[in-house]
This record gives sequence, structure tokens and C-alpha cells, in this order.
Amino acid sequence: MKIDGPVMCVVGARPNLMKVAPILRAFAAHAPAIPARLAHTGQHYDHALDGQFFDVLGLPAPDAHLGVGSGTHAVQTAQAMERFEPVLDAAQAGAVLVVGDVNSSLACALVAAKKGVPVLHVEAGLRSGDWSMPEEINRVLIDRLSDLLFTTERSAADNLRREGIDPARVHFVGNVIIDSLRQHLPGAGAGRQVIARLDASGLLPREGAYGVVTLHRPSNVDDAGTLKHLFAALAEAAVRLPLVFPVHPRTRARLEAAGLSPGAAGARILLVPPLGYVDMLALMHDAALVLTDSGGMQEEATALGVPCGTLRENTERPVTVSEGTNELVGRDRRRIVDLVARTLAGGGKRGRVPELWDGRAAGRIAGIVASLR
Ligand code: UD1
Repeated sequence: MKIDGPVMCVVGARPNLMKVAPILRAFAAHAPAIPARLAHTGQHYDHALDGQFFDVLGLPAPDAHLGVGSGTHAVQTAQAMERFEPVLDAAQAGAVLVVGDVNSSLACALVAAKKGVPVLHVEAGLRSGDWSMPEEINRVLIDRLSDLLFTTERSAADNLRREGIDPARVHFVGNVIIDSLRQHLPGAGAGRQVIARLDASGLLPREGAYGVVTLHRPSNVDDAGTLKHLFAALAEAAVRLPLVFPVHPRTRARLEAAGLSPGAAGARILLVPPLGYVDMLALMHDAALVLTDSGGMQEEATALGVPCGTLRENTERPVTVSEGTNELVGRDRRRIVDLVARTLAGGGKRGRVPELWDGRAAGRIAGIVASLR
């Protein structure tokens, strides 16, 4: 395989931004520099989910913005495909690089593969085994379309081998989201400062341990009954451990539809808008516990050594459980409350930072891409 032309990197949704930023930086820093372009599908468009991350992460303005926005999976994917095609043609790209498992990544990988443009997938081979998860469908399909597959943990290569993907295409490089974490953590400040800024009316105690919660998976938030049940569990947990909860727009809409207000949740859950990247890092770094259904936060908690309870029955990132600080607690009230109690009593699960989560993953990707030019 030869990469003949610039690498077209794709972002669409929030978690793509902290993954692509270190890759673009490593491409620019490589000698000679690897030419790259940035396409933004516009899957996420709010300043809170998108704009504010560009400056902080040092991302350049996209060369192309596709303005896709929200929609059903079919509409979002189809529009991204339709609008990406002419952009790819005009760029004469030598390869398309996609990260993670969002709809934008699948859409652009599919366009490239049909045109015979090599597809590079960063964060390949992760599998939850849960086909009801939209991201699982995206993961399997993107990997099948990819010419080069960059993995974050060793289990990924086994998954890819089982699916018949040539191991020669698979490169274990580490985790680019940890590259961003390592770069930005030193400037992130203290979690308590972030809380003081967010909590003007003093809902949370000013001192002592706190936890961080995020929820946005359709399986957790789209059904009002499930969401109420989870909220009741969190309210009970918050009696012991006050919680800061930056609320994703999808979740905000579902909470409002279900009539769930902060008061109903219990006084010690602070609901705030989605946070910027460094505020979130600071908040997680100083937290006693992270409770989340986000894949990226499971990894960040592991890298930070902060105990994490995943509010799902499975994870596509098993190294965060086998080596890291992560535990699967599902949506079960008793398991969630028990995790909080255990964490407060004993400091919570300790782990080690997984292999190659060392802040240099993007440099390894750049080295491999350069060798193919
Ligand atoms: C998407 C990804 C998910 C990722 C998440 C991170 C897919 C299938 N899902 O889920 O894997 O973990 O991003 O956030 O690609 N909305 C806004 N403002 C925005 C964007 C969305 O208000 O800027 C609202 C809209 O009501 C929209 C809803 O959030 O309908 C969901 O957005 P969407 O991009 O479809 O999926 P996410 O839930 O964000």
C-alpha cells in the first residue's frame, strides 16, 4: 500500500477532537512533514460540544466543514457521505484517516473505500459484542473497510483476527486520547476550582470527596423508565458522595421530557452544561470516583488512576477492567451504591496504566504512515 497525497483526517463528534489533535500535530512534526487536511462533518455543532475544543486542543480550522448536524442514523450517515465525496475528490487525498466509532467515521470510511482511497482507522478492533449499540455496528464496518488498523490495546488484534482481518494491517500503537490527556493535564488546574466556578449557589459541600457522572448512551437515556431508575440510583449514591454531572444535550432533552429536575434528583447532584476539555480533566483527576457510560472516560479514568464505574453491562475497552481502574456496574442501583460505598471506604479500585498509553501513540502512527509515502 502506498499513501500518495495528503492524509484527509475526519472529525465529526466531540470525542474525535482529542484523538485527531495529537495526530495532526505528529504529522506536522514528522521530518519531513506528512501533509494532512481536516474535514469536519458537523455531526456535533454546538460550541459546548465542538467549537470550544478547537482552540484548547490546538486544532486548525477545518479545510472543509460539511454541516451535517443531527438526524437519524441513516440521514446523518448519508448526508456525511454525500457531502464528503466532493471534498475528498478535490483534495486528491492519499488516504482517509478516521478515529473511533461515530457515524461520521463510518460515513467517510465508506466513501473512501468505494473510491479506492486507503482507509486508516485509529482505535480499531474494539468490540463490546453488543450489536444493539450503534457504535458496535460502526466499529465492525469501519474495520472491514480499513487498510491500516491502529489499535489501543492488545485484545483488539484478537478481535480483528477472529473477523478475518490480515494481521499485517494491524499496528498496536497505544492510545491517542492519552496523548491529549498527557499534554493538557499539567495546565488543567484543580477540580475543586472548577466546582467552585460551576456551583455558584453552593449546592455541593465546599470540601471533601466528590464524584463525576456522565450519561449519554441511547440505551441509558432514551427510555424514560431507565433514565428515572438510573437517576434514583445516582441520587442515593449522592447521599454519600456528592456528584457533578455535566449533561450531554441528548441527556438534557431526555431529562426534561421525563420531568427529572435537579431537585427531584436530590440536592447533591450538580447538573451543569457540557464542560470544556481541561475543566473535565481537572474534575476527573481530583474525583474520588467517575461514573460514566462514555468509552473515552473509562480510558481517561484508567490513565489518571481514578476509580471508574461503567454504567453499562459491557465495555469494548476490556483493558480498562483487566488492568485499569474500571468496573462494570450496569444500571443496577445496588451495584452503583455499593461501588460508591466501597470506594469511600477503601479508596476504590487501583490499576496500572496499560501498555503504550504513554503519550506517544500519535508519533507511532506518524512513523508508520511516513513509511508508506
Ligand atoms: C455521538 C456518537 C457517540 C459518541 C457521542 C459523544 C454516534 C452513533 N454516536 O452520540 O458514539 O459517544 O457522540 O458525544 O455517532 N445535539 C446537540 N448539539 C450538538 C450535537 C447533538 O444538541 O452539537 C443533540 C441533538 O438533539 C442530537 C442529539 O444531541 O439529536 C444526539 O446527537 P448525535 O450526534 O446523534 O449523537 P450523540 O448522542 O451525541
